[in-house]
Amino acid sequence: MLCILIGVAVITWSFSYSIYSSRKLNGALGRRLNGAHLPSLDIADKHDIPIIFIITPTYYRLVQKAELTRMANTLRLVKQLHWIIVEDFEVINLKTKELFQSSGVSFTYFAQTKRKTTKNHIRGADQRNAALDLIMAIHNPSIPAVIYFADDDNTYSLEIFEQMRYTKKLSMWPVGLSGGRTYETPIIKDGKVIKFLAWNSEKRKFPIDMAGFALNAKVLWTYNPMRFSTDADAGMLETKLLERCCTVEEIEPLADNCSKVLVWHTRTQKPTIYIFDNSLEV
Ligand code: UGA
Ligand code: MN
Repeated sequence: MLCILIGVAVITWSFSYSIYSSRKLNGALGRRLNGAHLPSLDIADKHDIPIIFIITPTYYRLVQKAELTRMANTLRLVKQLHWIIVEDFEVINLKTKELFQSSGVSFTYFAQTKRKTTKNHIRGADQRNAALDLIMAIHNPSIPAVIYFADDDNTYSLEIFEQMRYTKKLSMWPVGLSGGRTYETPIIKDGKVIKFLAWNSEKRKFPIDMAGFALNAKVLWTYNPMRFSTDADAGMLETKLLERCCTVEEIEPLADNCSKVLVWHTRTQKPTIYIFDNSLEV
């Protein structure tokens, strides 16, 4: 059944931007994307606000469509945003593609499997790295843009997108329901981060969940290669990435000096199913 729903393709859907021009990507990324033509995202000259690139790894499970629907309903309300969704599989799911197309969000959807050498406990790193490769291939770094790693199961206020949009280098804010605490957050004094309230803050230089920071896209070029480690210990993905480019002093606190929770590390319960019926797609 699943094989009827899936196809090998990379799908890009431009919504309100009319000046996309196709160009072919070469090399490993081009092969990964099946030689498809991709847009160049030179869209900022039509809009005077920075682009937000959202990177979302995703994988098939019963709640996938529900999670992505919820997320699309949030992202469709954010201006000048491009959503890169990376399916953790050999091929994309054509039904999922329809969901993105009907959402009205500008998006790129492609597949990237987890590499054999990636540690078992690491989720989403190869997919996020492929999305970063894509951004470097299609984006012109002189155009203002910001990158946010938004997992498909979290909950996002609209306010956080407008705040992160103007990130100079690295911005940060509290994440609710994260790290076994009600929230994890940087602690701010005189506008600077002085410490963190977070899980394992003694061992992590940047003890923050993926949902709690955004990067100016320029860091991809300045600190190349900015990619996630695929052999990091559990919980070390975020700090290992940020240690490549930034110092704690450089953190720009958002959400009113980190005094508000605007994103939540929610997790959807796995449904208990007694009757499997594939007549309708869930
Ligand atoms: C926490 C962090 O919030 C993640 O950003 C981090 O990647 C993860 O820990 C980790 O350390 O690996 P958690 O809620 O435990 O996340 O993980 P999930 O939400 O299950 O997965 C993170 C993202 O990866 C999601 O968008 C999910 O759809 C995707 N994922 C998960 C895959 O693409 N493939 C998988 O096999 C599992
Ligand atoms: Mn999660």
